Amino acid sequence: MKTYKIALLPGDGIGRDVTEAAKAVLEKAAARNGFLFATSSYPWSCDYYLEHGSMMPGNGIKTLSSFDAILLGAVGWPRKVPDSVSLHGLLLPIRKAFVQYANIRPHRLLPGVQGPLRSDKFDILCIRENTEGEYSGAGGRVHQGTDSEVAVETSIFTRKGVERILRFGFEQARARRGKLASVTKSNAQRYSMVFWDEITQRLSAEYPDVEVTSYHIDAMAARMVMAPDSLDVVVASNLFGDILTDLGAAIQGGLGFAASANINPDRSAPSMFEPVHGSAPDIAHLGIANPIAAIWSGAMMLEHLGETTAAAKVMAAIEATTARGIGSVPGKDRTDAITSAVLSALD
Ligand code: IPM
Ligand code: MN
Repeated sequence: MKTYKIALLPGDGIGRDVTEAAKAVLEKAAARNGFLFATSSYPWSCDYYLEHGSMMPGNGIKTLSSFDAILLGAVGWPRKVPDSVSLHGLLLPIRKAFVQYANIRPHRLLPGVQGPLRSDKFDILCIRENTEGEYSGAGGRVHQGTDSEVAVETSIFTRKGVERILRFGFEQARARRGKLASVTKSNAQRYSMVFWDEITQRLSAEYPDVEVTSYHIDAMAARMVMAPDSLDVVVASNLFGDILTDLGAAIQGGLGFAASANINPDRSAPSMFEPVHGSAPDIAHLGIANPIAAIWSGAMMLEHLGETTAAAKVMAAIEATTARGIGSVPGKDRTDAITSAVLSALD
């Protein structure tokens, strides 16, 4: 039987609660659709750091490279390990090492979920550049602790990096409603962002069927609230995409519903699937985290693996669950009640 090797990285806090839920749903989906998952779980986390002095072993990336996909919960527990250490020790190096340059985040209201906006008619796909830009990691600090201290953090935009994410955005727009919104801040940042706008312009000639519009990030933030139904695919740099997708999570009813996929489109290394939310230490292991974002991320994993029927069935089960009012109101239902409802809606 077709067997997919999955690396499970529950990570910290509610990451552990929601990956368990997603795993149960994925396993049932596999059993019902004629394939199997061989899952290996790794305890890499802030607790692992306290014991071993690193977030993952030195050969962690090599270990992960043999899997078909990675399912991650959440990373970070700032009272144990500073976020700047934990995230640079686990999540961010995986995105870069496996060239998961496209971070895909869907923003739409699930049935039965009440968003904060008057309009419920939006269906936005945010595509976030995921390996360079403002997260390039280039920088440093000198004269630390003195009055002359200097901190530099350099954004790096390469032609290769910008072109490939924009092409990915154009392709997604072509496969959806044919509209691409490219987000920059080229009125203020006249090198990197003008560069991005120019490449957008140039590529648009290759996609005459896609209607492309460039927006500044500030205007896009307002548009996502005031006129979200005017948007289809939104493509942005690493930090801009990070910020816009928390806004996207908010308009879809909260972080408990926001799924994401870190995709290596060339399939030269595994892709990684994770909910947008963090580890939420304040509610960790209380059994009240909403697993829907993690389960939806699991559906995106099925889609990426080519198991499109199983992916559609998991999405339908999520939708049937929220439509019944289970998991649709943040904080109302327990993790296991939501998970059981999704499992029983899955045939
Ligand atoms: C996200 C998160 C991460 C990011 C953090 C935890 C480093 O906010 O996946 O959106 O900024 O990419
Ligand atoms: Mn974020």
